[in-house]
Amino acid sequence: MKLISPNTAYIESYRSALAEFEQSGISGFWYSFGAIDDPEEYVRSIAHYTHRSGANGGAVPASVYWLVDGGEYIGHTSLRHELNPALEQHGGHIGYAIRPSKHRQGYGRAILEFALPIAQSLGIPRALVTCAAGNTASRRIIQSCGGEFVDEVDWQGTTVLRFWVETSQ
Ligand SMILES: CC(C)(COP(=O)(O)OP(=O)(O)OC[C@H]1O[C@@H](n2cnc3c(N)ncnc32)[C@H](O)[C@@H]1OP(=O)(O)O)[C@@H](O)C(=O)NCCC(=O)NCCS
Repeated sequence: MKLISPNTAYIESYRSALAEFEQSGISGFWYSFGAIDDPEEYVRSIAHYTHRSGANGGAVPASVYWLVDGGEYIGHTSLRHELNPALEQHGGHIGYAIRPSKHRQGYGRAILEFALPIAQSLGIPRALVTCAAGNTASRRIIQSCGGEFVDEVDWQGTTVLRFWVETSQ
């Protein structure tokens, strides 16, 4: 298992994972990436992209990494190099998702563990990580990575929990 920059070697596996996310009704940062018309161009464009959130959230530089295991795409994480007002409330420095067919196998915890040293290398000593109050799996992941609870905020009608996570584990 490892975290890699998006790579066309995994593109078919990634395509099938996107279909799983869609069927499960799970949305996230990757929905803004558009269609995979040209795989080479697609992986290049998401490896370093501009993350936009909220009407007045502003744009920040971000990088995507893929968690792969046994030749298969498992999940992805988006590392925001800095925060904007929207990400301070919801989204934080690090977002992640595991393809539904691979849930509850420890990959969610692994992806955050792998993402933290990358955040550190980007000059982020502690990362803001958030989850919806009802997202038990994500909350457990954040807490098992040492997340220190900050507060809960209302984000467009959803209660969001905010945590600081030290990136040097
Ligand atoms: C949240 C998510 C990443 C979890 O991935 P996962 O690979 O299933 O997580 P893990 O297997 O590492 O499980 C982490 C913990 O959550 C628990 N857990 C997993 N799914 C759960 C569920 N549906 N209900 C309750 N607990 C759950 C696990 O038992 C484990 O607990 P433990 O540490 O006490 O053993 C995954 O559900 C997902 O991609 N969801 C959609 C996107 C999302 O919500 N991303 C997070 C936004 S910040």
